Amino acid sequence: MNDATNERKIEHIQAIEDDALTDRMGNYFDQVKLTHRALPQIALKDVNTQCYFLDKQLSFPLLISSMTGGDHQLIRRINRNLAIAAEQCGVALAVGSQRVMFNNEAAKESFELRQFAPSTVLLSNLGAVQFNEGYGIEHAKKAVEILDADGLYLHLNALQEAVQFEGDTDFSQLNERIASVVQGLDKPVLLKEVGAGFSCADIDLGLEAGVRYFDVAGKGGTSWSRIEHHRNQHRQSEGSNPADQLGLSFQDWGIDTVSALKMLNGYTDRSTLISSGGLRNGIDMVKSVILGASICGMAAPFLKPAMESPEAVVEQIERLRKEFKTAMFLLGIKDVNSLINNDSLLLNERY
Ligand SMILES: Cc1cc2nc3c(=O)[nH]c(=O)nc-3n(C[C@H](O)[C@H](O)[C@H](O)COP(=O)(O)O)c2cc1C
Repeated sequence: MNDATNERKIEHIQAIEDDALTDRMGNYFDQVKLTHRALPQIALKDVNTQCYFLDKQLSFPLLISSMTGGDHQLIRRINRNLAIAAEQCGVALAVGSQRVMFNNEAAKESFELRQFAPSTVLLSNLGAVQFNEGYGIEHAKKAVEILDADGLYLHLNALQEAVQFEGDTDFSQLNERIASVVQGLDKPVLLKEVGAGFSCADIDLGLEAGVRYFDVAGKGGTSWSRIEHHRNQHRQSEGSNPADQLGLSFQDWGIDTVSALKMLNGYTDRSTLISSGGLRNGIDMVKSVILGASICGMAAPFLKPAMESPEAVVEQIERLRKEFKTAMFLLGIKDVNSLINNDSLLLNERY
């Protein structure tokens, strides 16, 4: 543990472990009512949850969202356990920000995951704002190379950076930097938030920059504002003011995942939407797909199992798959393609 970025990754995990309310439990998916079928006219055994993402087959549309990486035994274990389980279950996995490997050579090992997940979708991750702070296409290429990734997530975390005492807050003309990464990289670039959601204006800028994959990562689940608040509380000696309540004031800021999906539904002909932020079960996943998402991400629900073992992660994935399949059965839907954007499965608000 010899640099600030590395240390920060452990502090994030600590804050989530110590404070259950870093998960805001917005339960926004409860507002989405589905048309239960008393007579589904299909057999449960015939429900097929398989789907394709980035040209690879997945057993169902689950992505373990970006979490961590760094030079620490716990972090190496988390990523290894996630990779083994993702491969075994045929789901996608994204790693946490790889910025740490540019500051600390020893952090690279935590991202060498292809050996544990030879065939499934793996996604790299960098903070988009770093491309306003000196990063260039070579950083993007190295991040993808070490993971042998199928694509690169660029995360947009303006709220988190604004609340962080050492945050990078120059987001000016960032879409131009994103466009140059899209042009220079031979893998798809995906844009994601980290828990505050996307608006139509954001997607318009992303599309202009050449991005075709958007992970809304809306509010309702993990609050980075609240996590950074905890870090600020412990940082008096380094210039932060513990009396500063900015992180708490903004802990519920943003666009919730359900509203984001509804708002962005008109973009599904031009882009692939990923639903994440506060999804907590397979029913939330089914609702996300009905609202237009091609795949669903979850981060915090995988943290504890990942600290334990690959088996604990597999158990969590299998629970989600069972819920996802059961919900499809109860809607009378046999395949994932028939779920995507299927408005007829939404119970009319009038009832
Ligand atoms: C421990 C932890 C670390 C995270 N680190 C990153 C990161 O490095 N990069 C990133 O893009 N998102 C990161 N996230 C955000 C998640 O990928 C996700 O967008 C967000 O947590 C919302 O999903 P959730 O409510 O299921 O946790 C992290 C989340 C957690 C829980």
